[in-house]
Amino acid sequence: MKTSSRRNLLVAVTMTFVMITTAVIFISEQSRSAVAQNTATNKTASMPGIRFTGDGRLLRPSGYRRWTYVGTPLTPNDMNSGNAPFPEFHSVYINPPSYDQYGKTGEFPDGTVLIKELVSVGSKEATSGNGYFMGEFTGLEVLIKDKTRFKDEPGNWAFFSFGHEYPLKDAATIQPTANCNDCHGGAADDDYVFTQYYPVLREAKGKAAAE
Ligand code: HEC
Repeated sequence: MKTSSRRNLLVAVTMTFVMITTAVIFISEQSRSAVAQNTATNKTASMPGIRFTGDGRLLRPSGYRRWTYVGTPLTPNDMNSGNAPFPEFHSVYINPPSYDQYGKTGEFPDGTVLIKELVSVGSKEATSGNGYFMGEFTGLEVLIKDKTRFKDEPGNWAFFSFGHEYPLKDAATIQPTANCNDCHGGAADDDYVFTQYYPVLREAKGKAAAE
């Protein structure tokens, strides 16, 4: 073989090698970003109706009345000098994938969302007897555990309030730690959640068969 054609062959072999290597790198990058995208998508999928604005405010969640029901503490105004901090009924829901995980592991996973919807006392008597009966929706509070987004919050939990009077806010800024985290962190039985008032969660904790 002449020196020039040997050189041509060498160039051709090198080019082919470079092309194959580039293709391999390209394909593996593609699949890596597909995995990353999937992980992000999975979190969103487990937190349906939870979306943030570009500047980190939480948009008012939707669809949570279809989630797993946790319980209804009641702090009626008329037992709290007419002015309970979180007035009246608190209907609490958890996102179903986190409920399932709590059942399996006994811990609230990253991506747990608890919603507390406030409802006024509408009537104090019914044909069943005297008591407290639900009236109208009045407020909305949200609690989210996210190690990445809320890495600086105690317990990685963030608290949001959309108000105690309709119309509610469309978006809420994260609450200062002293407003919410401190009391929850100190007094709640499990992580930052008041499971002592939620038989649904106590009953589920760690009892589902592992995957
Ligand atoms: C002084 C203590 C205290 C403070 C401060 C407090 N909470 Fe709570 N929170 C409770 C208690 C007790 C419960 C459970 C019983 C109830 O709902 O009354 C609760 C329940 C909740 C729940 C339902 C999930 C759970 O952890 O049980 C949410 C959501 C919530 N609070 C949001 C907030 C937000 C948002 C703030 C701040 C604006 C806040 N809380 C401040 C005591 C507190």
